[in-house]
Amino acid sequence: MTIRTQVGIVGAGPAGLFLSHLLHLRGIESVVLENRSREAIESTVRAGVLEQGTVDLMNATGVGERVTREGAVHRGIRLRFRGRDHRIALSELSGGRAITLYPQHEVIRDLVAARLVAGGEIRFGVSEVAFRGLDGDRPEVRWLEAGREEVLSCDYVAGCDGFHGVTRPAVAAALTTWSRSYPFGWFGILAEVPLLSPELVYAHHARGFALVSTRSPVLQRLYFQCDPREDPGPWSEERIWDELERRLESEEGWKLVRGPIVQKNVVGMRSFVAEPMRLGRLFLAGDAAHIVPATGAKGLNLAVADVFVLSRALAHRYATGRDDLLDRYSETCLRRVWSAERFSWRMTTLLHLFPDDDDFARRMRLAELDHVVGSPTASADLAEGYVGRPFE
Ligand code: FAD
Ligand code: DHB
Repeated sequence: MTIRTQVGIVGAGPAGLFLSHLLHLRGIESVVLENRSREAIESTVRAGVLEQGTVDLMNATGVGERVTREGAVHRGIRLRFRGRDHRIALSELSGGRAITLYPQHEVIRDLVAARLVAGGEIRFGVSEVAFRGLDGDRPEVRWLEAGREEVLSCDYVAGCDGFHGVTRPAVAAALTTWSRSYPFGWFGILAEVPLLSPELVYAHHARGFALVSTRSPVLQRLYFQCDPREDPGPWSEERIWDELERRLESEEGWKLVRGPIVQKNVVGMRSFVAEPMRLGRLFLAGDAAHIVPATGAKGLNLAVADVFVLSRALAHRYATGRDDLLDRYSETCLRRVWSAERFSWRMTTLLHLFPDDDDFARRMRLAELDHVVGSPTASADLAEGYVGRPFE
C-alpha cells in the first residue's frame, strides 16, 4: 500500500520524534518509522543532561510540563581531582543558563504522547526500511510491517535513525566522514541509592575517569572508564562499588553510599561526523550524522538542535516555495556540530586516562585541570561549552 505524506522520518529517537512534533506545530504532516517497539524506546536508558536550549524548546512547544515538574535544574558541576572538588559555577559563568537532569527515555515518552494525542502517525516495529528515488522529486521509503510491504511517498525524507541506522549507509558514497574511536568505554550503572551529590561530579583519578550523575532522588546514575570491550556481566556489585569508591575518593568527607544496582552496561566512546547532512531531498539529523563521546553530554542536545533547524527550513519551504534555508541546513547544523565535537573531545581528553600516556602526559593533564579550575577565563570557557549555545 502506498501512503502519501510530506516528510518521511526514519527513527523515533529524540531527533525523529522532535522533528515530527515541530513539523506538526507548523502544519506539516509526517510519518515516523521505528524498528523497535514503543515499550523498548520508552525504557532504554541513555542520556540524562538536557541543555537549557532543549528544555526551552520543550516548554515553548507544549511538551515541557513533566520536565519542568520532575527535572532537576543544576547550576554547577564539580571537577574532582587529587581528592578535592572544584566547582564550575555554570550559571554564574554563562549568563544564567543551566542544565536539567531528566532521562532521555522520559523525553521520548513525552514526545510519543504528544504525537499520538495530536493524531500523529508513528509505525513501531517496522523492518527492512529501504529507499527509492532519493535523488528525485518524490522519494519513497519502503518497509515491511506485519509481513506486508508498505511504501511512503514523500516530499522529503529525514534520516533520524541513529548511528547504526540504514539512512547514512544508503548515501555513504556521497559523504565525507571524520572519526575517532577512543581506547576506552564507559561502564554505566543505575543504583537505588539516595542522591550522592547535589551536582554532577566529573572525577579524574589515577585509576581512570568516573562520573556521578542522577536520575531521581532515589535512583542514581554512575559511570567509570573501562576497556571498550569490557563485559559487564561478570562484574559483581561489590567489585563495581569498590572501583567507583577508589576513583571517587575524596579528602573532603564525601562518602559513596552503596545500594542495589538495577542496571549495568558498557558503551563505547567515539567522535564521528558525516558531511554534508543533506543530499537532495534527504536530510540526516542527530546520531545518524554525528556522534560525540558522552563526556560532554551533547548527543541528544545536538540531535534536537539539528531538527529545530530542519523544521524551520521545511516550514519556510512550504510557506514560500523557497529553498534557501534547506540549502543552508547542512552548513548551519555543522557549525554547532563541530563546536560540540571540539568540546566533547576536549572534555574527554581532559578527564580520561589514555593507555599510551607517559608520565609527562599524566602530569600535563593535571596541569590542565588546575588551569581550568584556577583561571576564571578557562572556567567560563568550560561553562559556556557545557550549558550550550541557544539554538540558531
Ligand atoms: P537515537 O536515539 O539513536 O534514535 C534513533 C532511532 O532510530 C532509534 O529509536 C532506533 O531504534 C531507530 N532505528 C535505527 N535503525 C532503524 C531502522 N533501520 N529503521 C527504523 N528505525 C531505526 N546525550 C546528551 O545530550 N546528554 C547526555 O547526558 C548523554 N548521555 C549519554 C549517555 C550514554 C550512556 C549514551 C549511550 C548516550 C548519551 N548521550 C547523551 C547521547 C544521546 O543518547 C544520543 O546522542 C541521542 O540518543 C541521539 O538521538 P537520535 O534521535 O539522533 O538517535
Ligand atoms: C550523564 C551522561 C553524560 O554523558 C554526562 O556527561 C553526564 C551525565 C547521565 O547519563 O546522567
